[in-house]
Amino acid sequence: MFEFDPYSPAVDAEPFALYRILREEHPCFWSEPAQMWVLSRYDDIVTALSDWKTYSSARGNLMTELPGRAGATLGTTDPPRHDRLRGLIQHAFMRRNLEGLAMPMRAIARECAEALDGRPQFDFIEDFASKFTVRVLFAALGLPLGDEATVRDKAVLMVQSDPQTRAKGPQHIAAYEWMTEYAAKVIAERRRDPQDDLISHFSAAEIDGDRLDEREVLLTTTTLIMAGIESLGGFMAMLGLNLADHDQARDTVVANPAVLPDAIEESLRFNTSAQRFRRCLQRDIELHGMAVRAGQFVCLAYGSGNRDDRRFPQPDVYDIERKPRGHLGFGSGVHACLGAAIARMATKIAFEEFLKVLPRFGRASQPLQWMPSSTFRSPLQLVLERI
Ligand code: HEM
Repeated sequence: MFEFDPYSPAVDAEPFALYRILREEHPCFWSEPAQMWVLSRYDDIVTALSDWKTYSSARGNLMTELPGRAGATLGTTDPPRHDRLRGLIQHAFMRRNLEGLAMPMRAIARECAEALDGRPQFDFIEDFASKFTVRVLFAALGLPLGDEATVRDKAVLMVQSDPQTRAKGPQHIAAYEWMTEYAAKVIAERRRDPQDDLISHFSAAEIDGDRLDEREVLLTTTTLIMAGIESLGGFMAMLGLNLADHDQARDTVVANPAVLPDAIEESLRFNTSAQRFRRCLQRDIELHGMAVRAGQFVCLAYGSGNRDDRRFPQPDVYDIERKPRGHLGFGSGVHACLGAAIARMATKIAFEEFLKVLPRFGRASQPLQWMPSSTFRSPLQLVLERI
């Protein structure tokens, strides 16, 4: 009998064949081990994401939630509370003028890429993507220099779960608590001495006299640290992997860097690092003949919707000419990724500089090991070699 457990390590390693069976044979599937429904077809996921009244985020959106997050952050609230938070946070993003980050981002990318020059083999994640994303995030948020390595390690631990049980273990909770205390300290400093950075702007953001309270600033800051480091770093690893595995795409991008944005969009479709999120049903519905009940959790497999041939012809082919409009790499609906513009800009700049130093590279033969997470999918290590 077919089984699909979104919390199983086997799914991290190879989800796509299972997704196909789900889409074709069980479009609304009850996963007994996970005790939740799984939606895998593109149209069903988009419909769910456009109907937050039925598919609520208020009991958490990550497949394994962190304590205290559900109902309190941008990603874990429904309108109207969500709209209010999103408006205030967007306001802060506008004031920071993220375009102004392009120059410092390029300088950071160049420095990280040049450090690889002359090395025949390196870990793309440890030696490039992580270094780059952490430094960019520190610049955007205004975190004090010197703490980069610890903040990165804690952020990575926060999104992971126990490899076997998939529950958050004491080390993951401890990392989250450390991050909360760390963010609280930085916020207090910025309140005393505001700068042109996102944390200062969150604290000051105001719309019609309404402001984020202290807890909201804190939770927003920890969410952005997690998203900035892990989502962006994980995605860059997937793009690095795709270019390493597809020589022709890599050579095309090197010959004409103007097509890099197309390779980025196709990677967001083909094997995005943000694979599965969760919603909680608010009313009884019937879907594909199944009775889905209020109060039950539903896993939305964005990574599967992106491989649905009803939407994307030949979905298992990585084709940088595809221009996959409407992919789910950044989600969709009211919770669509707030960092999409900055993530696209940062990835483009990072790869432009990386490919200048390393125009030809391939994957060293080590098999990949995947991060223990049921929401995000990216390798723990990606050893590349110059060819
Ligand atoms: C390429 C890297 C990234 C990917 C693939 C990604 C993906 C996503 C996805 C799929 C969602 C929707 C979650 C859901 O439906 O519940 C999301 C939400 C979000 N992302 Fe990203 N993200 C990336 C980078 C970033 C960055 C760099 C930031 C911050 C600077 C960020 C901030 C957020 C926030 C705040 C939300 C919640 C939005 C809301 O609920 O209104 N993301 N992201």
